[in-house]
Amino acid sequence: MARLTYYTATTLDGFIADPDDSLAWLMRQDQDEQGPLNYEDFIKDIGAIVMGSTTYEWVLAHDPGNWAYAMPAWVMTHRDLPLPAVEGEGADVRFAQGSVREVYDAMVVAAGGKDLWVVGGGDLVGQFADEGLLDEVITYIAPVTLGAGRPILPRRFDLELLEATQNKAFIAARYRFVGVLAEDRPPTLEG
Ligand SMILES: NC(=O)c1ccc[n+]([C@@H]2O[C@H](COP(=O)([O-])OP(=O)(O)OC[C@H]3O[C@@H](n4cnc5c(N)ncnc54)[C@H](OP(=O)(O)O)[C@@H]3O)[C@@H](O)[C@H]2O)c1
Repeated sequence: MARLTYYTATTLDGFIADPDDSLAWLMRQDQDEQGPLNYEDFIKDIGAIVMGSTTYEWVLAHDPGNWAYAMPAWVMTHRDLPLPAVEGEGADVRFAQGSVREVYDAMVVAAGGKDLWVVGGGDLVGQFADEGLLDEVITYIAPVTLGAGRPILPRRFDLELLEATQNKAFIAARYRFVGVLAEDRPPTLEG
């Protein structure tokens, strides 16, 4: 079964971008690109990705003329957005809205047995998690606090820490997604 992973970087206080969608705080950090939980190893097993429109527009604006993803990509939006302006074969980008379950099912088929990556942002990851479709969270925690910004996962959930190690400036951590926060679950018959 394809696994859906949220692979991202966050500040210590839980933001994946600042209020103006800047990632400057992230880009200047030192990391070992061959080190623990690195992107190169992660992306080898990924057969389809999904992202929200803010993330998509950030990627288009910051890397114009290039599309870094070889696998099919879904972009969630209610708007008419442009396709990436790339030369040659182009990019496989599909726009969708509404139910993330339908998108998930299409991604599983497109991925042909490989795993799935939800790039962000946090609320979109929450939509997959609400449907019980999220399996893992891998995050690089940067030694930065911002006080405000785009939250990593704005929901009340429990996760289980599977792995945590240093990668230069970062803590690289991997979690299993458990589900609704224990305190929010309805009481069982046993109490
Ligand atoms: N630190 C990292 O590693 C990292 C990773 C990923 C992203 N980021 C950054 O974090 C920020 C995330 O931005 P964000 O929090 O605004 O999240 P986002 O998920 O990128 O974008 C949210 C937007 O996606 C659209 N959307 C979401 N769910 C939808 C659905 N079910 N159906 C239709 N449309 C849907 C909506 O926009 P419309 O309908 O108006 O289009 C919504 O406002 C960006 O700046 C991004 O660059 C950082």
